[in-house]
Amino acid sequence: MFISDCLSVNGAGHLTVGGLDTVELAREYGTPLYIMDEEYIRSTCRAYKSALREGFGSDRNVVAYASKAFCCAYMYRILKEEGCGADIVSGGELYTAIKAGFPADRLFFHGNNKTDEELEMALRYQVGRIIVDNREELIRLDSLARKYGKIAQIIFRINPGIDAHTHQFLQTGQIDSKFGVPIETGEAYELIKDSLKYDNLKLAGVHCHIGSQIFDSEPFYLAAKKLMEFVAKIRDELGYEISDIDIGGGFGIKYLPSHDPKTPAENLRAASEAIKKAAAEHRLSIPRVIIEPGRAIVGPAGVTVYKVGSVKEIRNVRTYVSVDGGMSDNPRYALYGSEYEVLSAANADGPRAMLCTVAGKCCESGDIIAKDVLIQKVKPGDFLAVLTTGAYNYSMASNYNRNPRPPVVMVRNGKANVAVKRESYDDLIHNDVF
Ligand code: LLP
Repeated sequence: MFISDCLSVNGAGHLTVGGLDTVELAREYGTPLYIMDEEYIRSTCRAYKSALREGFGSDRNVVAYASKAFCCAYMYRILKEEGCGADIVSGGELYTAIKAGFPADRLFFHGNNKTDEELEMALRYQVGRIIVDNREELIRLDSLARKYGKIAQIIFRINPGIDAHTHQFLQTGQIDSKFGVPIETGEAYELIKDSLKYDNLKLAGVHCHIGSQIFDSEPFYLAAKKLMEFVAKIRDELGYEISDIDIGGGFGIKYLPSHDPKTPAENLRAASEAIKKAAAEHRLSIPRVIIEPGRAIVGPAGVTVYKVGSVKEIRNVRTYVSVDGGMSDNPRYALYGSEYEVLSAANADGPRAMLCTVAGKCCESGDIIAKDVLIQKVKPGDFLAVLTTGAYNYSMASNYNRNPRPPVVMVRNGKANVAVKRESYDDLIHNDVF
């Protein structure tokens, strides 16, 4: 009945996440409130790990969860316990991982413009792989590694020139992109060739990430094929064997009933076929494969609960249901026009009788959570649940209008654990100079 396995409805008609009543959680922890099903996160990590094992026949492959989807110390603890790696993209994510006791050798440091300070941190903590985006970074990294007496294990971000069918802002694999170096123009080959001359760098692999929220298998097949052909060219022309292939993330999830996402095994099938076929054709051994799902691991696990403040019916125009959060905790409608399922948390399986637009409390007309959705009738004081908010909500939240960020509560084995506390007004003025 619901779009995610984490959700159900109890005898009182209340929406539950991981078996816990969202109305009770909202009363206990206040609103807005992010609730996440920890068991879903853990089982999805395991599902991707076993899909990798089955797809590529080896245990050395890595599920490097993309931290940008949802990052906090609690999440790194889950990842550590589940034997996953993590993709990080900033000093802040790196710092959080290290503070949470996450093993640095399982970190993959991405980003198209890492600062010197961030690269120094990565070298100091000895992150497993640094994903180099461009020539300038390659040169900087080599000299920093020399300064610290280290050898940096690098992976190149290659732009395979693949057009993934998703929102324009979520595409990253097409040739006109700020990310990576294109294969098509010959620049990727030249850069890799030159990288072999640097004493403090060790070339480990190649990487591409073609976009996000992708349902199609074809772009994954084509991207993996391009990477493998490139690996073969490097072996043939430069006599160098690449050991890692990092195929990124981007697997689509179900935000709406009409979405039809694939299972982890189905998601990896296309890349697995492409890699095995190319390995056979070019007589290459199967490399270590790294995948970086973010949204697929945390997205369906999350629900945001708000309290309705006002219901404004503008005659013959539209009914606005205003909630006590908004673009400050979920900017995805404002940024991408993303759509969400919305329910009355206390009457989750009741008839949908109210066509409305769910708006936030920020001073901005574009502060919308969901436009023209049909939901159960709600009135001021009722709780509203927005589904599938586990990815890119908390991580993209802001303090716009000085709204404190909501807490994150993880639900597991019938218990709620606070993973992130609610920000206080004192947190908001913490760095202000009076
Ligand atoms: N690896 C790399 C190098 C990436 O750039 C990304 C996402 C991922 C992995 C994870 O992709 P996922 O499996 O989560 O689709 N803020 C946007 C999404 C931006 C994704 C950026 N990169 C949103 O809210 O939809």
